Amino acid sequence: MLEAIKQAAYEAGELLKEGFEKNNTIEFKSEIDLVTEYDFQIEQFLMKKLGEAFSEYEVIGEETGSNQQSRDKKIIIDPIDGTTNFIHRIPIVGISIGVVENGEAVAGVVYNPLLDEMYWAQKGQGSYCNDRPLSVTATDTLTQSLIATGFPYTKIDRGDDYRWTVKTFENILPFTRDMRRLGAASIDLCYVASGVYDGYYEINLKPWDVAAGVVIVTEAGGKISGAEGKKYDLEDKLIIASNGKIHDKIIEKMADMN
Ligand code: IPD
Ligand code: CA
Ligand code: CA
Repeated sequence: MLEAIKQAAYEAGELLKEGFEKNNTIEFKSEIDLVTEYDFQIEQFLMKKLGEAFSEYEVIGEETGSNQQSRDKKIIIDPIDGTTNFIHRIPIVGISIGVVENGEAVAGVVYNPLLDEMYWAQKGQGSYCNDRPLSVTATDTLTQSLIATGFPYTKIDRGDDYRWTVKTFENILPFTRDMRRLGAASIDLCYVASGVYDGYYEINLKPWDVAAGVVIVTEAGGKISGAEGKKYDLEDKLIIASNGKIHDKIIEKMADMN
């Protein structure tokens, strides 16, 4: 199954590369939440291909929803994770495809065709980028850590999400080596898995942003949790990913979610 998903991601990657060269027509899901014809094209391609190959799975895509009634087995697709990067020609994007069984992410593929990086993992079998096995860092202090985060689309309201994001950034940044905001959650998770980042957190993500990446992190020896270190659920408001060693140190510095 993983091989078929990787193959589909490679093929979808050709579409993404074609679109990256163009000035794309933008549609607005909100004033700042953008979508292009390539998000739709890639999603339709993957939904058809994976829907046909794995008819026992419900296939869910960010832009078009589900192909059938909810089932215990799901394939969850983000056709372009990092659409704002795609539009502004920053080559940090992921085609993210996660396999979820009985609520648990069990396999995942995140492909960045612009850098030709294929991240993949299956429960119990390790994580890889192309053919290279991945493992998280051994860093155990925040001062030696590079931490990534993201900013929720709801920031535009300047409400609770915005205040939490700014407060947590303020609480964590001074204690780290530095922080990054690359603009594609699926890639952020892969970068924790591959030892680029020591940790990452973000609020308001959706299952398609993270379904693939969470397996890639855990199979690389990393830790994923929800708020206060609780067991992570794909519907959780907050995700924290790390090498495990700095996990509690990130949580200690976080603003209160309430
Ligand atoms: C977004 C990216 C971004 C994150 C947003 C996501 P999209 O996904 O992953 O890094 O901060 O919250 O929604 O909209 O580009 O698929
Ligand atoms: Ca996304
Ligand atoms: Ca997307």
